[in-house]
Amino acid sequence: MSGGPLVTLDQLADGGFGETEATVDGDTESIVIYRDGDRVRAWMNVCPHAGRRLDWAPGQFLKSREGLLVCAAHGASFELQGGECVGGPCRGESLRPVAVEIRDGAVWLA
Ligand code: FES
Repeated sequence: MSGGPLVTLDQLADGGFGETEATVDGDTESIVIYRDGDRVRAWMNVCPHAGRRLDWAPGQFLKSREGLLVCAAHGASFELQGGECVGGPCRGESLRPVAVEIRDGAVWLA
């Protein structure tokens, strides 16, 4: 994808996730975007455990009752500030962050 926003804010529920593809360092990558009120954070949609996607179907992410993002493959759970794995097989590792910003009601690569 080139030039456009990753996703518009109204496509993201507050506290919810979105998924899109974008060109990062020259490669097309799947990205998970998390909305937290007026802020968004984004990471590569790649689990540090075994390199699988985090979603169970494109754009469908699991969130635990504790508010953690749960990898659909083997259940690693990630906190949503820094993307650190706080439970499961890759505890202590982190998702790879993607720098994004909000502009004109949409999320863009920063
Ligand atoms: S690939 Fe995510 S927990 Fe194994």
